[in-house]
Order: sequence, then C-alpha cells, then structure tokens
Amino acid sequence: MLYLVKDPLYKSIRINSFIEYGFKMVKLEYKEFPDGEAYIRFQDSIDPEGTYVVLARGFPDQDRNIIRSMLITHTLRDYGAQRIYFCMPYFPYSRQDKRFLAGEAISAKIIAESIVSNIDTLITVDVHNPLAFGYLGAKFIDIRTIDLWSDLIKKNYGNKKCGLVSPDVGRKSFVAEIARKCKVPMASFEKRRDLSTGRIISHEPEDFDSYKGIIGDCEVIIIIDDIIATGSTIANISLKLRSDGFKGKIVVAATHGLLLGNSYDRLVMAGVNEIICSDTVENPFIHRDALVGPYITRTIDRLIQSY
Ligand code: R5P
Repeated sequence: MLYLVKDPLYKSIRINSFIEYGFKMVKLEYKEFPDGEAYIRFQDSIDPEGTYVVLARGFPDQDRNIIRSMLITHTLRDYGAQRIYFCMPYFPYSRQDKRFLAGEAISAKIIAESIVSNIDTLITVDVHNPLAFGYLGAKFIDIRTIDLWSDLIKKNYGNKKCGLVSPDVGRKSFVAEIARKCKVPMASFEKRRDLSTGRIISHEPEDFDSYKGIIGDCEVIIIIDDIIATGSTIANISLKLRSDGFKGKIVVAATHGLLLGNSYDRLVMAGVNEIICSDTVENPFIHRDALVGPYITRTIDRLIQSY
C-alpha cells in the first residue's frame, strides 16, 4: 500500500498526481504548544508494510519545517514503516553548501544529515547544487525541471522569437539543455559575490556575441534560475538587458519563488514583465504548467519499480 504524508502546512504543492497514482492520504494532527513547540500525531495506524512518501514544505519558516519533518519521519520509523521516501522539493539551507569563509557551518550537509538517518531516499527538486549531496549516493535524488521548463516554454512562447538567459555559471548547463530542447538561442552571465556580505559585486555577460544576438533577435527573453530570493540576481540582468536596448518582453522562470521583502517591486522596476514559478513554494506566480507533482510521482514510480 502507498501512503502520502503531506506536511499539514504545505499548501502550495498540488497532489493530484499522487492521488491518481494510488496514494492514500495519511491523516496527521498538527498543533503548536503554547510555547511554540510542534506536536505531530498520526491519526491512522502506521502500516509497517507500507511505502510512505513524506511531502515536506521547505519555505517559509525553514527551521520549523525541519523540526516537523524530523517528527514525522522519526515516528514513521519508530512504528516500523519499511520504506520512507522523503521529498522536500525546496530544500532549505542548500545554498550554504561549502565553507566560503573559514569556520562556517556547512548547513546543507548538516540539515540533510538530520533527516536522512530515518529515511530511505531524500528527494529534492532543483536543489541549488546537487553535487553537495553526492556523498549520500543512491539515497539522494534531485529532480531537474528541464522538461518542465522546456514544455512550458514550447507551449506558452512557442509562437514568439525567444531567447534564454542563465544568470550565472552554476545554472548554465541546465539552461543550455532547455535551450537545446526548445531550439532557441541562449546567453549566460557570470556573477561574483562578496563572500562576507553576500552582495553581488559583478554580473556581466559571459560571451558578448551570444548576448548581443539574443538582444537583437528576440521578442521574449526568459531568464531561468533555481531561486528568486531578494530578486537582485534577476534585477541586475533585467536592468542590463534594458540598458543595452532590449525592448521586448522579459520573463523570469524560477523553480523556487521565495520572493522576499520588496523583491517583486525590485523586479518590476528593473523591467521584468512576467514572473513564473513552480508550486514548490507558495507565491502568487505559480504557473499551471509548472507543477512538480507529476515529476515527483514519476521518480517515486521508478523507485517502487526498482525494488
Ligand atoms: C544563486 O546562485 C542562485 O542560483 C540564485 O541566483 C540566487 O539564490 C538568487 O538570489 P537573489 O534573488 O537573492 O539574487
């Protein structure tokens, strides 16, 4: 039997694909004690023979999400659940994936380790740097949304002259693959940050010819990133495109739209016309063609078929 345990606070993610696949929803009681501590209770008995998929929220309120996830996965194991697939589509703390400065905690690894001891597989979607979790071997799967974005672009912008932009070197091969599938040109930027303040100190096109090419030829430029947090990365690029004379439509496609503080205003003021996000994180820009559920169920299906 297949069971879906959805974090009671995870509202954005669409679960139709899990229900269609045959998952039974598990009833969870969740409350907070007066001092703010979390309480979790499974209202149905736990089936030791069952396969459990835990669908966990990563943002907002990252720290509490991690505590809830630990309470859920430990309780499942305690009751002898044989197989637990833990899926946190937006994996918090993932950007601190190494020591940029001496003495720093490698948060990505520490948080992953707090979860993996009680599960079989950790599943994420477009995690910032999958290589940072490579040490987990087959216990870790990152779903890349290359097909999701290429299908969305073909369907919604297929009748326009489109160009894609990768905001930094880390995203370049991902965006290049989408450009290849959509048969559209792309350009890439190089971004450097101040390691102690996190501020972007330079952000320039990597190759001037391809950059000029998309500005000159395209009606729509789509900047594709994994995360929009403060919006600075995308705003810089959009301002540059506008100041270099691009008059067409600028679209931002981001898997995880955290959209902190005044990021929306910052993006609009920088000349962005449209924001598109997946449903991994709650925000007003979730696109109907950017739902990650079907990709997660396909991954689970492969895991189920392989044992
Ligand atoms: C960083 O390398 C990521 O891929 C994103 O570009 C970054 O997290 C976006 O952050 P912000 O919106 O604050 O510039």
